[in-house]
Amino acid sequence: MNSSSIFFILSFIFVSQVNCNKFWWIESAVNFIKCPLGDCCNDYYIPQNITGLRKELDNNLFGQHIAQDAVISALAAHIAIENPPKALAMSFHGLAGTGKNFVARIITNNFFMKGSLSRHFQVYTGRIEFSLQDQINSYKELLVEKIAESLLKCPKSLFVFDEVDLMIPGLLDVLVPFLDHGPVRVPFKGTKQSVLTNKAIFIFLSNTGSHEIAKALVDLRSQGKSREETRLEDFESLIAVGAFNEKGGLHRSDTISTSLIDHYVPFLPLEKPHIRQCIKAAFRLREIDPSEEHIEEAMSHVTFGDKPYDLYAKNGCKRVDQKVASIVYKITKSNELKSHKEL
Ligand SMILES: Nc1ncnc2c1ncn2[C@@H]1O[C@H](COP(=O)(O)OP(=O)(O)OP(=O)(O)O)[C@@H](O)[C@H]1O
Ligand SMILES: [Mg+2]
Repeated sequence: MNSSSIFFILSFIFVSQVNCNKFWWIESAVNFIKCPLGDCCNDYYIPQNITGLRKELDNNLFGQHIAQDAVISALAAHIAIENPPKALAMSFHGLAGTGKNFVARIITNNFFMKGSLSRHFQVYTGRIEFSLQDQINSYKELLVEKIAESLLKCPKSLFVFDEVDLMIPGLLDVLVPFLDHGPVRVPFKGTKQSVLTNKAIFIFLSNTGSHEIAKALVDLRSQGKSREETRLEDFESLIAVGAFNEKGGLHRSDTISTSLIDHYVPFLPLEKPHIRQCIKAAFRLREIDPSEEHIEEAMSHVTFGDKPYDLYAKNGCKRVDQKVASIVYKITKSNELKSHKEL
């Protein structure tokens, strides 16, 4: 390889690591020297940007004041000290389409420069992985190995377990040593390795407890409390009980009984005004200022629960984006047709 092709390759790697802030070129140059292949376990690639997270949640998350506060304070407290006592474990609960994955994605994007493409981020999905009861032991071994491998490379790894309710009960018990205080010695590639766990973050997502959340909200309302006045304490313990008793990955799990989940975060069922906000955001994303008629058309696809849950959308903002996309398609087509006729 001659010197000009080496220069070309190095320039390509340098440019591919560029981060678009004011001093990107100084940061990128320093980083390039320290980490020529990219995505290292350092502050540049893992900025853990709480300010960005707060801003993005403020601007884009609707109707989830409790989850928003709980998530920001838990993460800020966890990263505020050099050596937290244990890994942070949060469990998000709520009906479909209320923003659990959405928030997990926003966290990932603000914590890792490469977002969900970071090699220090792992996601496991219940429906796809870990659903066969007779495979439980091999799943457990695989999980321990993958988590240990990631933590050995980078203690600040983030693990998201999605659709926990569809995982086999008992599987997540293997996480207990990772969530507990102190380093853990685990079998890894034929040897025992000591793994630092205290800087890691684990997030569990599930629908368990969503009925309890909706019922508690209805009860609190009937006692005269507005949605905005409800607090984490109104929901936290009943979610833990629900998650422990309902079928799924946390059913009678040691993870819960040993109190290793630090925060149970309720995602409240969404109401009409929140769905409207989701609809407007989906139009904005496509640079369209929607008319009331367009908003109502998107709204007509949303179904609400039966009394006393009739205020709550059954599937939250799920599929709203797809409905808006097809309305926008129709608008664009008819505009094209109009301008064609005018010509
Ligand atoms: N509270 C919210 N604020 C803003 N947008 C939301 C909210 N909830 C959902 N959305 C929108 O709806 C989409 C689907 O939501 P999301 O995947 O987060 O639901 P979920 O809670 O994970 O549901 P499920 O339990 O079915 O997995 C999101 O990508 C986002 O665009
Ligand atoms: Mg989800």
